[in-house]
Amino acid sequence: MSTAPPGTSSIHFHDFHPALADFRSEVLAGLAQAPKQLSPKFFYDYQGSRLFEAITELPEYYPTRTEIGILERHGESIAEFLGRDCLLLELGSGSSRKIRVLLDALQPAAYMPVDISREHLLGSAQALVADYPSLEVHAACADYSQDFELPHYPEDLPRAAFFPGSSIGNFEPAAACELLQRVADHLGEGGRLLVGVDLQKDSELLHAAYNDAQQVTAAFNLNLLERINRELDADFDLDRFSHHAFYNETEGRVEMHLVSQCRQTVSVAGERFEFAEGETIHTENSYKYSVEGFLRLAQQAGFTSDQVWTDEQQLFSVHCLRCVAA
Ligand code: AVI
Repeated sequence: MSTAPPGTSSIHFHDFHPALADFRSEVLAGLAQAPKQLSPKFFYDYQGSRLFEAITELPEYYPTRTEIGILERHGESIAEFLGRDCLLLELGSGSSRKIRVLLDALQPAAYMPVDISREHLLGSAQALVADYPSLEVHAACADYSQDFELPHYPEDLPRAAFFPGSSIGNFEPAAACELLQRVADHLGEGGRLLVGVDLQKDSELLHAAYNDAQQVTAAFNLNLLERINRELDADFDLDRFSHHAFYNETEGRVEMHLVSQCRQTVSVAGERFEFAEGETIHTENSYKYSVEGFLRLAQQAGFTSDQVWTDEQQLFSVHCLRCVAA
């Protein structure tokens, strides 16, 4: 489907949003596993996307401001690398805040944000076009963790992709490699990819980033249960679950869980699930890479590295990758 909402003639909206039935079957399958788990992609309903935006403003959550600092500092070199007048894809575009840093220097022929949160995607695209009226936007609501479709674009332009925020860290390394391979397929040989990757660091800093004092991250985590209650006719009592996040040093990842505060039974879409006291639902992994570790992954996926930037404190990295084997 391609529609341009009234008054937004340069936005084309393409809806490949997964059906509610997929959400139901994935949630039921995840809760039936031992240990119980749910995919972090389900965090991003409208409220979850808003909570995530609030996280990015928290003093403890360093990745967003650090990545933006790198993009601001190297905007001209990035534009040269990605190439002006390209068809620019952005995976997990969210608020489209980061692309704004690059747009003036980059001047893409068209911008194609891809995000799973429909309302958030449309709202961000509308806000972007209000500020950049001549920008042609093809917004695609899609689950890019799967083999995703992209809207047909009539012109044969060089393609570039932007994958910010270290969302790549929310995939298991093997799945991250497969995702990068799919991106390579969409870009074609010679296509450019700019990807933001969070770096391994002191566990105290990581602990604080995922256990903020205002408990916005806790609300973000618990919102997943609220979404399941609303969309799948479930009866999770949010007061009986608590947020738990910690750095798993062995795996090199921050883990987020929802911990059952007591023995309880929860019903979801007509099925019943037993929880022991202290039992958790594993809701997210956020892998932290070394620069070399991420480069190895990118190479396996068919990319070569042109450039890597980090901030002075070595908190975050931004990689310029070129597709050598699509
Ligand atoms: C979107 N993603 C990269 C965030 C992260 O840091 O892994 C999601 C998040 N989870 C808790 N805080 C932020």
